[in-house]
Amino acid sequence: MRRRIYNTETRVLDNIAINEDYFKLKVRVEKKVFEKAQPGQFAQIQCSQEIEVRKNRKFEDHSELANYIRLNIDKLNESQLILRRPICIHNAYKEKDGRKVTHIFEFLIRKKRKGTELLSKLKHGDNLNILAPLGNPFGYKKSVDEGREVLIVAGGMGIAPIVFLCNKLIENGVRPTIFFGFEEDFSINYHSTMRKDLRALSKKVHIASNTLVEDVFVNGFVTDILVDHLKKLSRKKLDAIDIFSCGPTPMLKVVAAIAEQYDVNCEMSLEERMACGFGACMGCVCKTKNNDDEKYKRVCVEGPVFNSKEIIFATQS
Ligand SMILES: Cc1cc2nc3c(=O)[nH]c(=O)nc-3n(C[C@H](O)[C@H](O)[C@H](O)COP(=O)(O)OP(=O)(O)OC[C@H]3O[C@@H](n4cnc5c(N)ncnc54)[C@H](O)[C@@H]3O)c2cc1C
Ligand code: FES
Repeated sequence: MRRRIYNTETRVLDNIAINEDYFKLKVRVEKKVFEKAQPGQFAQIQCSQEIEVRKNRKFEDHSELANYIRLNIDKLNESQLILRRPICIHNAYKEKDGRKVTHIFEFLIRKKRKGTELLSKLKHGDNLNILAPLGNPFGYKKSVDEGREVLIVAGGMGIAPIVFLCNKLIENGVRPTIFFGFEEDFSINYHSTMRKDLRALSKKVHIASNTLVEDVFVNGFVTDILVDHLKKLSRKKLDAIDIFSCGPTPMLKVVAAIAEQYDVNCEMSLEERMACGFGACMGCVCKTKNNDDEKYKRVCVEGPVFNSKEIIFATQS
């Protein structure tokens, strides 16, 4: 099925620093983009010339800015910011003020290098161009329709697409159980808020941390607490479960093995380095299988969400 992708201008409404390395970007999007977005999908965010240029100079109007970019394109290209950055839709919701409705996307972003660093400097009122929504979403609608039990398994930044997913499930009358694991750097100034947020999104939340030991967290990996939960369930209950997972590749690999061991349906969102984000460059392929048939698929188009049975993980990850 071909999906509509929009190349669209958004307006930054807020940029909230969670701690030194993480921030939440809140942008206003057009209604038509908002309505197409599903949990698990992502946006390709432009963090290029325009932001860098605007930061350093004032321009009277867009044509003056466009002219500046044209004249300085070589220099700007060197700054490696031509490619957009893929970021999950962390949340999508409407804000109402009287009769006025604003459609919102939120992005939860970790500062890594140049692109994400630039995004962290955006301010209220800045324009931000995005391509969205991209990729295949989580198959949560089937879970809702068939009244299945949903378990969410997230690690660190893997929480990014999960908030949108939980909100959609709740909107449709399903409260998931969340298993969340994190390391200390993610949690600074954030874990108490996060715990409250996750509680509001679930019927039960289990949190594990192997670095930050507090009474409320289980000391260990998120996959340990997942196994503790699954091993207590009957075959009938296991057959009625869908796991949705997102996190670092080593964690996903273990979650896939657990899903196989307990024969539980499991979908997971993969992360690969991306260039175009819409299927043209083949830069993001991963190895997949369907029975004995192995083939490469593009994470940006056929993913980022795959059934765990499909994925062939590299042996060293
Ligand atoms: C589907 C998807 C969803 C993602 N969602 C989020 C999210 O919600 N929040 C978040 O903080 N991060 C997310 N990431 C990772 C994020 O895209 C990278 O951290 C970011 O692109 C790094 O850009 P940079 O300029 O800071 O780093 P650089 O290393 O300078 O980036 C250089 C180039 O490599 C690409 N690149 C580098 N690391 C990654 C990566 N891990 N994945 C894909 N491309 C990469 C960049 O897009 C850019 O083109 C997601 C990645 C994918 C594939
Ligand atoms: S990033 Fe270009 S094909 Fe996926």
